Amino acid sequence: MQKITLPRPDDWHLHLRDGAIMAAVLPHTAQRFGRAIVMPNLRPPVTTTRQATAYRERILAARPKGSRFRPLMTLYLTENTTPREITLAKQSGHVQAVKLYPAGATTHSEAGVRDITKVHAVLEAMAEQEIPLLVHGEVTDPQIDIFDREKVFIDQILSPLLERLPRLRVVFEHITTREAADFVRESSNDIAATITVHHLLLNRNAMLAGGIQPHHYCLPVPKRETHRHALIAAATSGSPRFFLGTDSAPHTRHTKESGCGCAGIYTAHAAIELYAELFEQAGALDRLAEFASGFGADFYRLPRNTDTITLIKESWNVPQHYPLGIAGALVPLRAGKPVSWRIANA
Ligand code: NCD
Ligand code: ZN
Repeated sequence: MQKITLPRPDDWHLHLRDGAIMAAVLPHTAQRFGRAIVMPNLRPPVTTTRQATAYRERILAARPKGSRFRPLMTLYLTENTTPREITLAKQSGHVQAVKLYPAGATTHSEAGVRDITKVHAVLEAMAEQEIPLLVHGEVTDPQIDIFDREKVFIDQILSPLLERLPRLRVVFEHITTREAADFVRESSNDIAATITVHHLLLNRNAMLAGGIQPHHYCLPVPKRETHRHALIAAATSGSPRFFLGTDSAPHTRHTKESGCGCAGIYTAHAAIELYAELFEQAGALDRLAEFASGFGADFYRLPRNTDTITLIKESWNVPQHYPLGIAGALVPLRAGKPVSWRIANA
């Protein structure tokens, strides 16, 4: 039987939500990952260090017994965020980054930024204090085709921003296009990108062909097959600029299977297993450890994990759904279907 042991991976982009949903999903992440960068798009959003600290306490309290999982917190950037808040974030020691959601770009992004020039002073403070900016890299202009929004974001927002603030450290989150992978690889700035496992596994046909597949719908939307190939090439390239971020995003079944379905794919139940499957198919299993357990910690200037996890090549079937307590249930990626790797020492 094939077996691989990796330093324990970290998830550099994760949605945990709060309350009953958090309690239901957190064990999946805590079983696999040492740390996770926790997204701040709650309702209301986590905009202050004070709120992030309280949210962190709730996450710590919801961990399964004996778990050593550590949540790494982020702030939600708004046009009212102050440079002072950045100082507080830095001083706290547990806020690692600030997230830019262009207003209207995705789930719970209404409080996000409409005009990037309004947050210039805050971004300057972040550059000075070396707090990374995490970007949801899509423009929201309704004139721009949804499949082009990431590419246009690079040209209209990200490139000019990096020119204005060359010292700002940036993570281009959940990249979905060849253009984004090329941009990150070739940039002279200190930038990196996370790549989700669903964007490595699915193209837009998986979302739209043979009937609409709401459980394959997320933002940024999966693109055509050539882009998926570019993402696989980036993830398996050995470049330290690309690392694991699942963007696992729990939504209840009824909000996804709806006349206006929510964006977000749930992968936390099998995240590292699915990445292993993909890296194996790409003939790059030997590159998984750095992508999953090395490069992200290096970028965030945190120590790498010293404990390990072992994966065994043995197929198991994903349940049709996972209960979310009083919130209902969610349909995970691969529901009812096999995953070819499993964790040995969960
Ligand atoms: C995320 C969510 O549900 O919070 N949804 C998604 O499709 N990825 C938000 C996000 O990261 O865009
Ligand atoms: Zn996300």
